Amino acid sequence: MPDSITPTIEVHLGPGDLRAAMEADVRSGLTAVPKQLPPVYFYDDRGSRLFDEITRLPEYYPTRAERAILDAHAKEMVEMAGADILVELGAGTCDKSRVLLDAMQACGLLGSFLPLDVSDTTLWEAATRLSQEYPGLTVGAVVADFHHHLIHLDASGRRLIAFLGGTIGNFDPAQRQEFLAGLVEIMRPGDRFLLGADLLKDRGKLVAAYDDSAGVTAEFNRNVLHVLNRELGTDFAPDRFAHVARFNEEDHRIEMWLRSIDDCVVHIADLGLLVSFAAGEEMLTEISTKFTPLALQDELSAAGMDVEASWTSPGDEFMLTMAVRP
Ligand code: SAH
Ligand code: AVI
Repeated sequence: MPDSITPTIEVHLGPGDLRAAMEADVRSGLTAVPKQLPPVYFYDDRGSRLFDEITRLPEYYPTRAERAILDAHAKEMVEMAGADILVELGAGTCDKSRVLLDAMQACGLLGSFLPLDVSDTTLWEAATRLSQEYPGLTVGAVVADFHHHLIHLDASGRRLIAFLGGTIGNFDPAQRQEFLAGLVEIMRPGDRFLLGADLLKDRGKLVAAYDDSAGVTAEFNRNVLHVLNRELGTDFAPDRFAHVARFNEEDHRIEMWLRSIDDCVVHIADLGLLVSFAAGEEMLTEISTKFTPLALQDELSAAGMDVEASWTSPGDEFMLTMAVRP
């Protein structure tokens, strides 16, 4: 089998690292007020499949909106970047990467693709599929945490670093600042950053996107409890936690919470910790910030990038922004 159809894989976040991080996050998050968990633990194999299902729900507009922008403007984006290396952070199933890869191929720029994600199986399957579909492409899957491991994305050549899906909205302002500062540090002059972000809009539409009628987002939310039960020996009863999605007007974000239906005590066997939930108590599991174009562009400029262009989807639902490291 020729090398070009076999991706390589670099692992900077092995099972032991992920477990150590999970132990620390669960200890601090479940003893905080209010209780909270970082969203990274949603994405085991089941969680990644549930997210993929979410992207096809009628209420969940962001994936379709972003895809429409890419379909219309990928060639322009790729020409602007002039890059032969596509890096993608939080790449997941790499579905939208194809649009950029096709445009790079059409412009004679197809060199390598470095998708990065914590979800190793999903990433490996996607990388393998892409290696087969693009025989001339060198694919190097990177299992890593985008909060800590950007330094490992070194590659010679000009890079287009894509961060799609609105995942930046899952960071709080301090995490965004730290992430962007770290990103600028690893970018070389001329490297481009292509950022997908969801925009502020009608609150009813926003809440519906995170509380779909088929209950897939509710199952995605509760999946974190299944993950903790399996990985840390906790005894959460996932069906006794209700999915809550609401818009926080002050912080411009959808928040997903899990609300305990009963008074209960959860035993975290591997940490030797008992945690009580009162009936009605809520635990914060994800934030999804919705931006105004100017506020987001200001954050990119403050981090040291020059914003070159932006594109919005019909109805100004979603925005892609291209920024360059001067
Ligand atoms: N970019 C894809 C997937 C978005 S879902 C899209 O636009 O549809 C968010 C992705 O980020 C998931 O694949 C998840 O596994 C990954 N992810 C979440 N937290 C991460 C972290 N800390 N480091 C790296 N990847 C992460
Ligand atoms: C990955 N991220 C951008 C999604 C979002 O919209 O914030 C995760 C998600 N959570 C619920 N539905 C989708």
